Amino acid sequence: MSADLKGLILSGGAGTRLRPITHTSAKQLVPVANKPVLFYGIEALVEAGITEIGIIIAPATGDEIRHTAGDGSAFGARITYIEQAEPLGLAHAMLTAADFLADSPFVMYLGDNLLRDGIVDLVEAFRSQEPDALILLTPVDDPSSYGVAELDGERVVRLIEKPEDPPSDLALVGVYMFAPSIHQAAREIEPSPRGELEITDAIQKLIDGGSKVSAHRVKGWWKDTGRLEDMLEANRLVLEDLESSIDGELIDSEVDGRVVIAPGARLERTVVRGPAVIDADADLRDAYIGPYTSIGRGVRVNNSEIEHSIVLANSSISDLGSRMERSLLGRDVTITGGADRPRALQFLVGDHAEITMP
Ligand code: G1P
Repeated sequence: MSADLKGLILSGGAGTRLRPITHTSAKQLVPVANKPVLFYGIEALVEAGITEIGIIIAPATGDEIRHTAGDGSAFGARITYIEQAEPLGLAHAMLTAADFLADSPFVMYLGDNLLRDGIVDLVEAFRSQEPDALILLTPVDDPSSYGVAELDGERVVRLIEKPEDPPSDLALVGVYMFAPSIHQAAREIEPSPRGELEITDAIQKLIDGGSKVSAHRVKGWWKDTGRLEDMLEANRLVLEDLESSIDGELIDSEVDGRVVIAPGARLERTVVRGPAVIDADADLRDAYIGPYTSIGRGVRVNNSEIEHSIVLANSSISDLGSRMERSLLGRDVTITGGADRPRALQFLVGDHAEITMP
């Protein structure tokens, strides 16, 4: 087992916990430090020498993902898109990709997961030890939101999906390595209480059948970006490792700390305190951009303060009376304040939006 290791990235989920952003866009395309989450996964696979990559897509968001990631050549990979007609679970997604995977061992990577240190070491361990499955574990505060492992020493005894009464705080990270024997295991399981074929249950089948399932602890940080607070946290963690580069135009402006300002961005009478990224063609005037903020392409900020937030392309924020914090704005959003207007709030807000006022 070596050169023929394939990659399977799951980008089909509906992203209900990130509504309303996911009403119009795939959750895997929400940018972290101005790069779609999905790209981090593709890059992690390529870095580990895996260039034959299948991406599972859903009918609603598949075209957008196809259009954004393309044929893979930009990453030095070859991408095959595989449509999963209904979101019936991770094991179901894997079975949908059976033709693509054929009898290759593979890395299965959930498209909304981020691993700081990539997967090079893990792929190496998988290649040399040749287990039936290699899983990644990390301690979390809320294990009942994840698949959870029960260990005996370093041996995995049991895996349970979203247990009410977790046997440990060790969550299954959304990156798995499998020998082809996982297909048969997945065919033998029944849907879980949430109506999905769980990959957790398929791995449990392997354990029950006496197959070798090895567990590794994640060294750097790991984030599943399925919820707003995780997305902001992922953005913060990625920005922590930022290298500065200032290419845009600065007029009477001040930049502190690690900051990326892309070519074509324009800052006037603006203060940026890093880590922060400002994408091309952004136009910031009389603004304050605080730590852990990602400003997307073509965003306009006027007379406003923003911190610890992600603002997607072409949104416009002006004359905010208070600092905006811990916020995620979609594309083409307009937020306007202004003291000389009547003191009333005025909204045009889509389904599932969340607004917190002082
Ligand atoms: C899925 C898996 C779960 C795992 C998690 C990691 O959960 O079912 O075992 O811990 O990904 O991100 P889901 O995102 O489907 O709730």
